[in-house]
Amino acid sequence: MAHLTYGMIGGGKDAFIGAVHRIAAALDHQAALGAGALSSTPQRSRESGAALGLHPDRCYPSWRDMLQGELARPAHDRVAFVVIVTPNHAHFEPAREFAAAGFHVVLDKPMVLDSAQASDLVRTVHAAGTVFAVTYNYSGYPLVKHARHMVRAGEIGRVRKVIVEYHQGWLATHLEASGQKQAAWRTDPSRSGLGGAIGDIGSHAEQLVSYVTGLELEAICADLTAFVPGRKLDDDASLLLRFRGGARGILSASQIQIGHENDLSLRVYGETGSLLWRQEEPNVLVHRPLGQPDRLLRRGNPYLCPEAQAATRLPPGHPEAFLEAFANIYRGALAAMRREPSLLDFPTVEDGARGVRFIERTVASAASNAKWTPF
Ligand SMILES: NC(=O)c1ccc[n+]([C@@H]2O[C@H](COP(=O)([O-])OP(=O)(O)OC[C@H]3O[C@@H](n4cnc5c(N)ncnc54)[C@H](O)[C@@H]3O)[C@@H](O)[C@H]2O)c1
Repeated sequence: MAHLTYGMIGGGKDAFIGAVHRIAAALDHQAALGAGALSSTPQRSRESGAALGLHPDRCYPSWRDMLQGELARPAHDRVAFVVIVTPNHAHFEPAREFAAAGFHVVLDKPMVLDSAQASDLVRTVHAAGTVFAVTYNYSGYPLVKHARHMVRAGEIGRVRKVIVEYHQGWLATHLEASGQKQAAWRTDPSRSGLGGAIGDIGSHAEQLVSYVTGLELEAICADLTAFVPGRKLDDDASLLLRFRGGARGILSASQIQIGHENDLSLRVYGETGSLLWRQEEPNVLVHRPLGQPDRLLRRGNPYLCPEAQAATRLPPGHPEAFLEAFANIYRGALAAMRREPSLLDFPTVEDGARGVRFIERTVASAASNAKWTPF
């Protein structure tokens, strides 16, 4: 299997998710970092590239230099795709320019700042015919894939209600005032976009519900609060959801819930049973069939669906988690780039566009005093 080489934008020294992407892309020995514009200043980009062993010629001062520099190389010697792991405001331009130039793109969520940018990107990607993956990594977990399989196979009956909760506590204080950079841009509307917690983690919750249940949002009733004095974006979100076909939902996303680390959970209630999956205990899926004892389904076992098996690397009892799930998104996207079949899917530019709309409609509902707002 041929290695694909990629260039990374963002993910320099002290960045969070860029390092996760590098591990995930490399986990199955299918992709290697070949170039980078890794930071917002040329000096830091060069230092970050050198620390990762990049050739000095391919430690670019900016993503525009990387685009020009890679296009100037012979086609067989360019990066095949770019990974964009910058703060949200610096997603759209590089994603659009690299896709338009024929490079595949892996971009972190939320995809862009508004629906005008999202539509532009959808058009650009379709015209280019390239692969575009948005790293909503929670759909990469084997037992999330099995939950989706069970819902589709009718194993819990028609879905009536969904409760998705994403609780964190790390922004319970005015952390941004300390200069902590992940807090600083996430609480700044010019860099984060319209949403605070709702954009940062609520967007993952929306995608998880959509992925597992296939339900389509019809309307949102949202209450957004900024509890920490001086904060300009929400740090706590409570939403009621109505789906087409009559199902109902509750979505809670909060970053001021002290004691919670990365506590994402999904409950799906159907007419004949329910499912529970928790990100902090991701190797177990709880199935509660009507009138029968609870069942615990565990990762790595042969009774799981083929997609869940394909998303697994280790035998049962050898825990897999965040990094492996992230790598599953890469595996699907890399197969698509090679035009090879794969049981592993990945979130697309359309999923990214829906996520952007979700943030916009939620903020619109909250701004109208929690009025029900059509999706
Ligand atoms: N999928 C997930 O679970 C997940 C988790 C964390 C973050 N994210 C997303 O990943 C993105 C980055 O988040 P983070 O927490 O890693 O942020 P971060 O602040 O830790 O890192 C951002 C990096 O981008 C660089 N950067 C900023 N502007 C740039 C530019 N114009 N060109 C090149 N580099 C530039 C910074 O120097 C830094 O290295 C965000 O969109 C965030 O929402 C996703």
